[in-house]
Amino acid sequence: MEIGGMKADVLAKQYGTPLAVYDENRLRDRLREFTEYFRSGSFETTVIYASKAFNCKEMIRLISDYGCSLDVVSGGELYTAVSAGYDCAKVFFHGNNKTPAEIRMALEAGVGTIVIDNPMEAAELVKQIHGTDHKVNVFLRVNPGIEAHTHKYIVTAHVDSKFGFSLVDKEEIFETVKMLKAEENIDVEGLHAHIGSQIFEDKAYEELIRKMFAFAHELKNIAEIRSVNLGGGFAAYYTAADKRISVRSICRTILETCEEENEEIDGQIKRILIEPGRSIVAEAGYNLYTVGWIKKTPNRLYAFVDGGMSDNIRPALYQAKYDAVIAGKEYLPTIHTYTIAGKCCESGDILIDSIDLPEVKTGDILVMKTTGAYGYSMASHYNKQALPAVVFVRDGEAREVIERETYEHMISLEK
Ligand code: LLP
Repeated sequence: MEIGGMKADVLAKQYGTPLAVYDENRLRDRLREFTEYFRSGSFETTVIYASKAFNCKEMIRLISDYGCSLDVVSGGELYTAVSAGYDCAKVFFHGNNKTPAEIRMALEAGVGTIVIDNPMEAAELVKQIHGTDHKVNVFLRVNPGIEAHTHKYIVTAHVDSKFGFSLVDKEEIFETVKMLKAEENIDVEGLHAHIGSQIFEDKAYEELIRKMFAFAHELKNIAEIRSVNLGGGFAAYYTAADKRISVRSICRTILETCEEENEEIDGQIKRILIEPGRSIVAEAGYNLYTVGWIKKTPNRLYAFVDGGMSDNIRPALYQAKYDAVIAGKEYLPTIHTYTIAGKCCESGDILIDSIDLPEVKTGDILVMKTTGAYGYSMASHYNKQALPAVVFVRDGEAREVIERETYEHMISLEK
């Protein structure tokens, strides 16, 4: 089992476990694919990396090398971008409850675009920016009421969603746009929507594009809406039950549908944006664990590992499925069905409910695949587990991009 040209067990020995490892060339390949294929002769196109999937300074430097814009949803993500030296003019600041302090921080950092989520937030932005030297572009996050097939916690665009302006109440949108437009430091550029995550069907995006273009046209007499941001949600390949999506075909479907719809509205839209997060980082990421005790119960054979829901909460929270191998035993025949359980004090701390593997022994290195999205970024200190180190590997060389947390770090703020 090699990652970026290095053996997984060598990485585990060198950096310890649990360990998050990224194959840097796979990250680069995905960034290259998105930036190459999301181009059109008819529109200006922008690929925004949704950094909630994995936000750290080195990742932000990497996406910057490919000319990508950056989605942040909190002061913390913005702070990381600023610390990485990222050009804040290319930041899109999202979130349903940006605090007044975060709005101030965004304006002071020179954030280029704020995605407005609700009328009260719009009023706060107007209040803060009025009479200052700051300028900002604004997108309105709308909620088109499309439910893509995905887990209920990660569906974001049903009518009662906490995110965005529901298209059911258009009057509210009209009033908010008017309020924003009246402020000379604000340019109301476009509409935004994000319909959910781990979406396999192109049809969901086609329906979204139709709704967004039609609504952009409806707003024509109130504001010059010239950009449409279609959000992220493109699926990653976790297990053999998933389809592999092609970035090229997704980009083509999106851009062709946009071209068709734009004809209907006399070419009003000039710029299309997408916001992939998971599809850029998920498949490049691996979590490495050391196997501890093996335990047999009447109906299960457990292999315990030295991490768990504290470094990857997705199986417990969304019943997310993962594939794994034992380093050095990839080609041995599978002989038992194992349950891979973490070490947290919680019965639900099961990383893989059922997986066929060769004989697993204490001290083996278990490599979980496709862990690069929403793993480290959703990690917690439950049971005071220290956060793992994160390593990028490329062409046989590894470098630590986030150090392993120590117990001293962990209690450093405690009085
Ligand atoms: N843009 C917006 C406004 C979003 O809310 C999101 C994700 C994205 C882009 C990126 O979506 P992606 O391409 O990564 O699917 N913790 C969950 C996923 C939550 C996603 C929230 N928003 C999980 O682990 O599956």
